[in-house]
Amino acid sequence: MESHSLRLLFLTVILSLSVPNPVCAKPPCDFPAIFNFGDSNSDTGGLSAAFGQASPPNGESYFGGPAGRYSDGRLVIDFIAESLALPYLSAYLDALGSNFSHGANFATAGSTIRPQNTTLHQSGFSPFSLNVQYYQFNDFQRRSQIIRSQGGVFKGILPKDVDFSQAYVPDVLDQFKTIIKYLYYHGGRSFWIHNTGPVGCLPYIMDRLLITAGQVDKVGCATPFNEVAQYFNRLLKEAVVNLRKDLPLAALTYVDVYSVKYELISRAKKHGFVHPLRACCGHGGKYNYNSEHGCGSKMKVNGKEIMVGKSL
Ligand SMILES: *[C@@H]1O[C@H](CO)[C@@H](O)[C@H](O)[C@H]1NC(C)=O
Ligand SMILES: *[C@@H]1O[C@H](CO)[C@@H](O)[C@H](O)[C@H]1NC(C)=O
Repeated sequence: MESHSLRLLFLTVILSLSVPNPVCAKPPCDFPAIFNFGDSNSDTGGLSAAFGQASPPNGESYFGGPAGRYSDGRLVIDFIAESLALPYLSAYLDALGSNFSHGANFATAGSTIRPQNTTLHQSGFSPFSLNVQYYQFNDFQRRSQIIRSQGGVFKGILPKDVDFSQAYVPDVLDQFKTIIKYLYYHGGRSFWIHNTGPVGCLPYIMDRLLITAGQVDKVGCATPFNEVAQYFNRLLKEAVVNLRKDLPLAALTYVDVYSVKYELISRAKKHGFVHPLRACCGHGGKYNYNSEHGCGSKMKVNGKEIMVGKSL
């Protein structure tokens, strides 16, 4: 249980570094850039750049094809960028067509807070854990200024120095806190922190584990997993409260994504969903999920090759 649960605690940290007024008191908020850290919830192309594009049908309903996101459309981070009138974030790892003039995205799907000691192939977890994302951010901040000063095309695709601003579990949350503090020290002032979702409702959890009847809640989600997620979120919230005391110039917004997702799942009909526990892109079984035949993979059905997730 422990190893599963610890590996499942993903977290999205979205932060905007702004200047001159760090804490935006009145609208409209004028954020010059967004620097994002996280996992698949906010990966706009990082894992794809490192390990190959997220395959079709990802991206099909909004971007018209694979767009580095593990979704058929836009992610919350895309809507946040839109609402701040900023372009979609380029992935730091993406060498092709990237434009970092309004920030960079260090998130990769499958990232964890704690460092990984296995390969993506072995465990399914991204090697770009939060500490690595932070190294990348540091490198980005330093080198982008050296390169930007060369002028020409670089000036248009790299953020201004001022956009970084100059002011300045057991161990999972300590690492999280340490990194928030580092970012604060480097000028981060507005932090938008997503808690972890109800992982016990994810098809790949439900499918993989033999959940006994007593371990399923009235909605059909695996209670032990959701309890661990709730426990993590309680401690995360405490950590945020403490960070507010330690970082007086920062605005830390704790976003209860767990409740939003659980509401969508538990009152699916009301929100227009028919099968809240089934994977939208998968194949077979109670949860339309099969780890052998993932979204976008090819398989033979009745002698005919089909692509998983493509409507027939
Ligand atoms: C890898 O990390 C896991 C979880 O953090 C830990 O339980 C395990 O002992 C580590 N393995 C090695 C070889 O360090
Ligand atoms: C990069 O994005 C900025 C802001 O959207 C834009 O003004 C600039 O022209 C872009 N540069 C390139 C090379 O696309």
